[in-house]
Amino acid sequence: MQQSWIGGGLRFSYCTEHDLPDISRMLSKESVCRWLFFGPNTNEATRSYFLPLIEEVQAALWEGRTPDHHVFTVRLEDTKDFVGQCALFPVDFSPGSFLIGYQLDDIYWKRGYGTLACTFLVYFAFTVLDGYRLNGDTVAGNTASRRVMERCGFVLEGIQRQYWHARGGYYDRLIFGLLASDLTPERLSALGEAFTE
Ligand SMILES: CC(C)(COP(=O)(O)OP(=O)(O)OC[C@H]1O[C@@H](n2cnc3c(N)ncnc32)[C@H](O)[C@@H]1OP(=O)(O)O)[C@@H](O)C(=O)NCCC(=O)NCCS
Repeated sequence: MQQSWIGGGLRFSYCTEHDLPDISRMLSKESVCRWLFFGPNTNEATRSYFLPLIEEVQAALWEGRTPDHHVFTVRLEDTKDFVGQCALFPVDFSPGSFLIGYQLDDIYWKRGYGTLACTFLVYFAFTVLDGYRLNGDTVAGNTASRRVMERCGFVLEGIQRQYWHARGGYYDRLIFGLLASDLTPERLSALGEAFTE
């Protein structure tokens, strides 16, 4: 199976252990974790969360299977500098339905890369994995994440009030969804052309 895709100046590659120091550094930042229900994280916490996922992905790729989890490292195509990570996680008992996730290092915010990473996940889920539904959620105050999903066509499907209790406060959870059938055939085919090996 292909392990790396290029689009819009970024490279999306299945995550390996070599990426963990960069991911740990990003997830140790207060700025990056401000709207997340976890973190800032120690190196050990990041490693113990990601390592089993990486091992599952790498074992599947080694055996020529499609992994269950799709955890990608995002780097600049030309310099290979670390930009962030994004992922698709399967939804239990619903083949073809995935939860999306993305975190970028703060020095790369507001350049359109968040939208590009989410667009890549839409491409990957609906074109490569032949999925039918994507699920996203965010804390109500995370305007950047909300806008990323809206720009990628996600629809606000619900609000869970005071869903998260973190850092001494309660936070509403916004639930977003996107169906493959929401996208026109032209849009799907344009996505296929936007990301190449
Ligand atoms: C969410 C995140 C990926 C967005 O990445 P990004 O590269 O800055 O996003 P883009 O440049 O594609 O911008 C998308 C939209 O968000 C807006 N935006 C970006 N940063 C913003 C901020 N700090 N405050 C308000 N809006 C912001 C942009 O203006 C744009 O909106 P527009 O279409 O109305 O102009 C990035 O902020 C991030 O990694 N945050 C920390 C981790 C996180 O919260 N992940 C999401 C968990 S649900």
